[in-house]
Amino acid sequence: MSETGPAAEANDSVDPVGRADELRGLIAHHSRLYYEADQPEIADGDFDLLVAELAAIEAEHPDLVTPDSPTQRPGGGVAAQFRPIVHQVPMMSLDNAFDDGELRAWGERLARRVEAAATATFVCEPKIDGLAIAIRYEGGRYVQAATRGDGRVGEDVTANVATLAGVPAELPAGAPEVLEVRGEIYMPVSAFDALNARQEEAGERRFVNPRNSAAGSLRQKDPAVTARRELALWSYQLGAVEGGPAFSSHAETLDFLRSMGLPVNPEIRSVATLEDVYAYCRHWLEHRHDLDYEIDGVVVKVDDLALRTALGSTSKAPRWAIAYKFPPEERTTPLREIMVSIGRTGRATPFAVLDPVFVGGSTVGLATLHNADQVRAKDVRPGDLVVVRKAGDVIPEVVGPVLAVRPADLAEWTFPTRCPVCGEPLVRAEGESDTFCVNVDCPAQRAGRIIHFGSRGAMDIEGLGEQRVHQFCELGLLGDIADLYTLDWDAVSALEGFGAVSVANLRDAIEASKDRPLARLLVGLNVRHLGPAGAEALAGAFGTLDRIMASSVDTLAAVDGVGPIIATSVGEFFALDANRVVVERLREAGVNLESPMVEASTVLPQTLAGRSVVVTGALAGFTREEAEAAIKARGGKSPGSVSKRTTAVVDGDDPGASKLGKAEQLGVPVLDEAGFVTLLDTGALPPPAD
Ligand code: IVH
Repeated sequence: MSETGPAAEANDSVDPVGRADELRGLIAHHSRLYYEADQPEIADGDFDLLVAELAAIEAEHPDLVTPDSPTQRPGGGVAAQFRPIVHQVPMMSLDNAFDDGELRAWGERLARRVEAAATATFVCEPKIDGLAIAIRYEGGRYVQAATRGDGRVGEDVTANVATLAGVPAELPAGAPEVLEVRGEIYMPVSAFDALNARQEEAGERRFVNPRNSAAGSLRQKDPAVTARRELALWSYQLGAVEGGPAFSSHAETLDFLRSMGLPVNPEIRSVATLEDVYAYCRHWLEHRHDLDYEIDGVVVKVDDLALRTALGSTSKAPRWAIAYKFPPEERTTPLREIMVSIGRTGRATPFAVLDPVFVGGSTVGLATLHNADQVRAKDVRPGDLVVVRKAGDVIPEVVGPVLAVRPADLAEWTFPTRCPVCGEPLVRAEGESDTFCVNVDCPAQRAGRIIHFGSRGAMDIEGLGEQRVHQFCELGLLGDIADLYTLDWDAVSALEGFGAVSVANLRDAIEASKDRPLARLLVGLNVRHLGPAGAEALAGAFGTLDRIMASSVDTLAAVDGVGPIIATSVGEFFALDANRVVVERLREAGVNLESPMVEASTVLPQTLAGRSVVVTGALAGFTREEAEAAIKARGGKSPGSVSKRTTAVVDGDDPGASKLGKAEQLGVPVLDEAGFVTLLDTGALPPPAD
């Protein structure tokens, strides 16, 4: 399973008594902010590290363990605005396992403690990242709901929980006289995204994550606010019960909860061995983002209730369960600086320079901030402590600042007015979200264009990495893409780090690129909006670069898979003398400018007639316009939002969580790029996974 990052260790050079004290103070402070104020100052991952460090000190110095240490008691308390409710049965917390070894050690501890546990079977459940709740029914009627609080006393949130659609007001006939059900209240990711979209529209601050929004939405004085927030419940445990059936296993209690009309997570599985437990954990580690709710791990529970009683509990947590925690996807870290990078199109992209943190499985030191509006919406400022998120394959993101610790005099960041590379003015056109350096001679753009030309999807010149391009540009050896074919190899050979072999390899790779198909060259030319699919369509339809250059925009736009936006952009590109000169120099160098023409079929097979396919995120082989043109050329529609009539959602890199969430909610198939290509070709959807 994946690495969980640097493990917590007791630091020998630090005074253990002082550090344990300090850690307890910090943990108490952050627990209060998390459980009572719903305003954490650090991410859960950072909190877990503090607790793990304290646990490590206590393990080395058992005499330092105090009964009120946070390692011995569930965190949390009761905020003053809520009426306290004493739990008839205490609400415990869970011990954590941060990797396979700790999970295995838990299994071994069980078997050492109670012999029968050696053959125990388990129930595995997604660990919902929400807040624990105890809901009480008397005579089959909803009477009370309480948060966990400190485990002994919780907060009265009866009126708020009553507004949740998934919490029945009445149980079916035959319900026990008293039934207290326990579970987790959460905010679905799709509801969270919709809430943030509303916040943004209203010019209000975005919420940081679904867990904090759920807690903040539930713990409201006015239940009408809770009612608007689309919170949901997964129930997973019984509390106090009077009357009703007796159970011998956890699986039976879950069946019973289901029969009472209470929501039970359909992903819960009974498994026979610890090996199956690992497989379940691995599965959800990989697929956690397929769900419309956030999970931060897996809870593993011994199934047999008699065995549970035999195993018992510590003061904080039952011995019969463990939380297998996934590596954190959010951490807090100082934002040192906001800088702006200039891409090959001149786009000026602000990015955050962070104190490096281990998050989402790797160390993150830089994160894009996309554009000026995003920086303003997030209101992040150099000097802020910020929440950084890296979820799955999605690029790292700065979620927002921790306002509670922002210094009073911290200045707002302003977008630079001049290009940081060439010094020319930066321009943001009316109605556009991006800012551009419009100096085509800007060294950053020049280098970016050459890097793109040599990249895999274009001319695929191995060994021409970013660093080399920058180095050659700075030395004046390269100015544009055509210069690659007249490089001064003596000058290159004289450079430090360039041995005879690497020079020969690079030279061969550049030479080999002359024979790439026309479509690759078209991609490499850096024509705005033109991606691999449009380039293929143009090359197939016209056969030579000369014919493409000689065609009118209307003729170009008539090609299947090329819309008016691409056609206009291609027309504008070749209307510029400078671009025509580059093409002539490529021709002189012997670069291939032709490709076999593909039999023009005026009408493609109408594989998507009457169907609608939504595309979200970036695809490798299609620009957004190309993907939509490909769908339309096959008789389909490509609307911007998902409904129950949607045939499929195509899920690219950095997809919109709301579209994916909606797809999952409505049972609409989600396809990757390969599935999309199959759908275009054949109209067939791949069989559902699992
Ligand atoms: S069982 C005595 N099952 O995780 C055991 N807890 O870190 C009670 N949680 O306080 C908890 N999903 O708020 C259980 N499927 C699940 C859970 C779950 C999330 C939360 C719960 C608990 C916390 C411990």
